[in-house]
Amino acid sequence: MAADYQGLELTTDSVAAAEAYSNCMRGYMGYQTDVGVHLKAALTADAEMPMALITRGYFFHLFSIPVLEKKAADSARAAQEAITVRGATQREKWHLAALQAWNLGDMAGATDWWEQILLHHPHDVMAIRLSHFTHFYLNGGGAMRQSTNRILPAWDKDRPDYGFILGISAFSHEEAGDYAAAEAAGKAAVEINPKDIWATHAVAHVYEMQGRQDEGIAWLDGLSPQWAELNNFRFHTWWHKAMYHLEKGQHDTVLDLYDGQFWAQPSDEYLDFTNAAAMLWRLNYQGVDVGQRWSVLADVAERHNGDAILTFADAHYMMALAKDGREEAAQTLLDSLAKAAQGTGDQARVAADVGLPVCRATLALCQGRAGEAADILLPLRDHISRLGGSHAQRDVWAQMICRSLLDAGRFQDARGSLAQRTATKTNSPIGWRWYAEALEGCGDGAGAAAARENANRAA
Ligand SMILES: [Fe+2]
Repeated sequence: MAADYQGLELTTDSVAAAEAYSNCMRGYMGYQTDVGVHLKAALTADAEMPMALITRGYFFHLFSIPVLEKKAADSARAAQEAITVRGATQREKWHLAALQAWNLGDMAGATDWWEQILLHHPHDVMAIRLSHFTHFYLNGGGAMRQSTNRILPAWDKDRPDYGFILGISAFSHEEAGDYAAAEAAGKAAVEINPKDIWATHAVAHVYEMQGRQDEGIAWLDGLSPQWAELNNFRFHTWWHKAMYHLEKGQHDTVLDLYDGQFWAQPSDEYLDFTNAAAMLWRLNYQGVDVGQRWSVLADVAERHNGDAILTFADAHYMMALAKDGREEAAQTLLDSLAKAAQGTGDQARVAADVGLPVCRATLALCQGRAGEAADILLPLRDHISRLGGSHAQRDVWAQMICRSLLDAGRFQDARGSLAQRTATKTNSPIGWRWYAEALEGCGDGAGAAAARENANRAA
C-alpha cells in the first residue's frame, strides 16, 4: 500500500497518485496556489483514490458557496463507491464520515471525526488543518489550543511540516489569549520557513491585540516579499497591516493597501470580501469618504446573496448591501438567513441566534436607526463570538455595538462596552477616544481627559 509524505497509508496502487496527493497536502499546508493542480494529478493517476476524492469534497466546502456544496456531496458519493469496491483504511473511512457530516452542515460532527483521527494519527495534516478551521468558526481559541495541544507531543523538529504545526499552535495560543506563547511559537516557525504565512499571521494578531502597531508594520513589511507566490491568504495578511495603519490614523495608507493589495480586484472568495467590507466599515467610523468602494462590494455581495452557508460571510455581505442602499437585496439576504435558520446544521443555529439579529442591526444602522441597532446588538455583546472568526475580525462588531450606543446617546451602556474594549485592546487609540466620548456623555470630564491621554499615548 502507498503512503503519503507523513507516512500515512493511502488506498491506491498508484505511486504517481500518492506522490501527487502528498504534493497537494504540502501545498495546502504552505498556502500554495497549486493545491488544485496536484489534487487533479492525483485523480488523473487514480480516479478512485479515496483520500483524493474525500479531499476534493473538503476543498469544495472551504469555499462556502452553494454550487460547490453540491460538488462536495458528489465527491463523497464517489469516495463511498470507491471504498465499497476497493476497501479503505480505518483512517480513510473516518475521513469519509467527516465529509458526510460536513455535507449535512454538521461541522461539529465533522470536527469530532477529525479529532478521532488525530488521536490515532497525529500526523494527519489534513485533519489538523480542517479541525483548526472548524474550531475557529465554531468553538474559538480555547478549543483550538486544546486540539493543537493533543497532537504536539507527536511532533518534533525533524518531521516535515513541523514549522507549520508550530504556526498552527501559535495562532491557537493567540486566539486563546496567550500572546507570549503565540509570539514565541510563531517566530520560531517563521525562523524555520519565512514563507510560513500562517505563522506570520499569528504573530501579526499578537501585535494587533496588544496594539503594537509599529512592530506589526515592521514585521509584515519584512516578510511580505515572501508571499508573492502564495494564495489569497496573503490578502488577509495585508489587511492586518492596514489595521495597524488605521489605528495610527493613516487613512491614506489604509486605502492604498485596500486598492493595491487586499482588494486590488473584486473577488468572490469570502475571506477577501470580509477583509474589504470590515475595513470600509471601520474607515467610515473614522469619517473617511471611501468613494464608490461600497458599490463595488455590493455588486459582489449580490452574487452571494442567499449563500447562507457561513453566517460570518453573510454578515459581511449585509454590510455592503446596507451601506450601498440596496434595500431589496438586503431584505433578500434577511429572508435567506431566516430560511437557513430553520435548518439543522451548526450554522442554522448561529444564523438564528446571532447572524439574523446582527444583519438586522447592520441594516438599521445604515438607515439611520442607531437606537434600534443598539437595542438589537447590546444583548448579543458577549455572544458575537458564535459567528466565528478571530478576535481581530469580530472587533468590527464590537465597534458597531459601541458606536451604535454612542450615536443613540446611551452613554452609560457605551461606557460599559468601551470599558470592555479598552481592557482587551489596551493600546487602541480608537477605543480610548470613543471611551472618552462615552465618559464625557456620562458627565465624567476627568475620566474623559484621562482616556484621551491614553489615546494619545497609544497613537
Ligand atoms: Fe487574521
